[in-house]
Amino acid sequence: MKRIVILTGASDGIGKAAVHHLVKANCHVILACRSKEKAELVIQQVRENYKDASMEFAKLDLADLESVSQFSKNFLQRNIPLHSLICNAGVWTDNQRKTTVQGWELTYGTNHLGHFVLVNLLLNKLRETLSSRVLIVSSGLHPKGNVKQLLKDPNYESGKFSGKTAYCNSKLANVLFGYGLANRLAEMNGQSSNSNGKVSVMVWEPGVVRTSLFDEAFGFLAYPIGALFFQKPEKASEPEVHYAIDFEHPVEGMKYFAQWKETESCTDSYNKTYQDELWNMSLEQTRKYLDM
Ligand SMILES: NC(=O)c1ccc[n+]([C@@H]2O[C@H](COP(=O)([O-])OP(=O)(O)OC[C@H]3O[C@@H](n4cnc5c(N)ncnc54)[C@H](OP(=O)(O)O)[C@@H]3O)[C@@H](O)[C@H]2O)c1
Repeated sequence: MKRIVILTGASDGIGKAAVHHLVKANCHVILACRSKEKAELVIQQVRENYKDASMEFAKLDLADLESVSQFSKNFLQRNIPLHSLICNAGVWTDNQRKTTVQGWELTYGTNHLGHFVLVNLLLNKLRETLSSRVLIVSSGLHPKGNVKQLLKDPNYESGKFSGKTAYCNSKLANVLFGYGLANRLAEMNGQSSNSNGKVSVMVWEPGVVRTSLFDEAFGFLAYPIGALFFQKPEKASEPEVHYAIDFEHPVEGMKYFAQWKETESCTDSYNKTYQDELWNMSLEQTRKYLDM
């Protein structure tokens, strides 16, 4: 039986490379992307190497919570299992503050809120599926995030906007969300005798990888240098796929992996008060989209 994997950000960079590994590992891959054209190009390229590859495009714009809701509805209506959900998509903007369709600052809205709603809408499905997994992609820059700012002004309505600060804060939000989710699932499991419901949650960072996001972060001048020293998406996505589909090894609790190695995230990320504050704030901000 093919395992069913939803992968956000499958149209480019690390996610695009991950599709190849997932197909090779005999998964059915749902490329959850905003651009049908880009996703279909990936599908076509993968088919050149894997003729029987099982893949499909499904429209998902994380910067539009209506789209996240519609994506989830469409998936749930199919009544199929969900073995793995990989929250890989991400943006890094310049210092011009931009917003999502619902008016959230684009980095916070896409990297955190879009995935927060997606995971919550698919959580019961994940809990119904035996040994399912959620992998949330953060970054080695998450310790540079400022938790106080993230919780006080997530929409960057005061002060001068910095794309780097918003990115680091969103990546810290990814870790806090992943840990908050793992803790909530552990509480739910404690109340249930059902062996299903045990969803493994992992937060993972890829290291520095040469992608479009890398260009945005370091500028075009960095690319020739980066091309010499930094990882290629094909290699960088190997551990991402390994952890996302390592169904034989369920994990519990607050798990953080840097490339191939289990390690610790920053001190603030383990703070339960911060985790709960982010969770409750995100719930308030997206409640309308969570009632389906
Ligand atoms: N590259 C690095 O060095 C590095 C380091 C640490 C962490 N990361 C993390 O790794 C993940 C992948 O990054 P990458 O380097 O592969 O970046 P990338 O090449 O720029 O790819 C980003 C992916 O996210 C998708 N995306 C952006 N906005 C979206 C939206 N509103 N809705 C749906 N999808 C959206 C993009 O879709 P389009 O193709 O439509 O643009 C693309 O598929 C991100 O979470 C990033 O934070 C990367």
